[in-house]
Amino acid sequence: MFKALASAVLVASLMAQSAFAADCSRSYTVQDGDICDGISAAQNVSTYQLAVVNNGVIDNSCSNLSSNTTICLGWTGEDCSTTYTVEEDDTCEGIQTAYGVNSTILYLNNPQINEECDNIYIGEVRVWFIFSSV
Ligand SMILES: *[C@@H]1O[C@H](CO)[C@@H](O)[C@H](O)[C@H]1NC(C)=O
Ligand SMILES: *[C@@H]1O[C@H](CO)[C@@H](O)[C@H](O)[C@H]1NC(C)=O
Ligand SMILES: *[C@@H]1O[C@H](CO)[C@@H](O)[C@H](O)[C@H]1NC(C)=O
Ligand SMILES: *[C@@H]1O[C@H](CO)[C@@H](O)[C@H](O)[C@H]1NC(C)=O
Repeated sequence: MFKALASAVLVASLMAQSAFAADCSRSYTVQDGDICDGISAAQNVSTYQLAVVNNGVIDNSCSNLSSNTTICLGWTGEDCSTTYTVEEDDTCEGIQTAYGVNSTILYLNNPQINEECDNIYIGEVRVWFIFSSV
């Protein structure tokens, strides 16, 4: 399934190589006009998980998605599909209260959030629970 991306693997980091070595629990074929946040929201995969699983395949700003390529959405045994889409005026505290998750779980699953929690933005999809098999 990933033969088309073989050249990407050659230049990829160790982490990306492990991405190809791991089993994908879910995959998705990129459509014209897709953006990472749109895929995240529609497929229930967090921003962070999508970035980690596709490290070396998709660039950091998600500007090089190419149509008709198949990307992995999660690794077997580490795939979390319980997500929440951040909305206007959300705060980490408010989300924690509303969904009954504490700060440990929140930051463990969303390590890209800074300590002040001022870098969440509308449309970013986040995972609320420890990675678990699905
Ligand atoms: C994403 O999660 C929502 C809410 O649980 C569910 O209704 C929907 O079917 C899920 N979509 C996919 C692609 O798994
Ligand atoms: C996208 O960018 C990443 C990171 O620079 C690179 O490793 C990958 O090969 C690129 N993918 C495509 C399809 O150009
Ligand atoms: C993607 O696949 C569709 C259907 O096979 C085709 O019409 C389209 O031209 C392809 N797009 C690219 C960028 O290869
Ligand atoms: C959050 O919950 C987890 C699991 O129940 C627990 O291990 C952790 O200590 C809690 N963290 C805080 C800040 O309460």
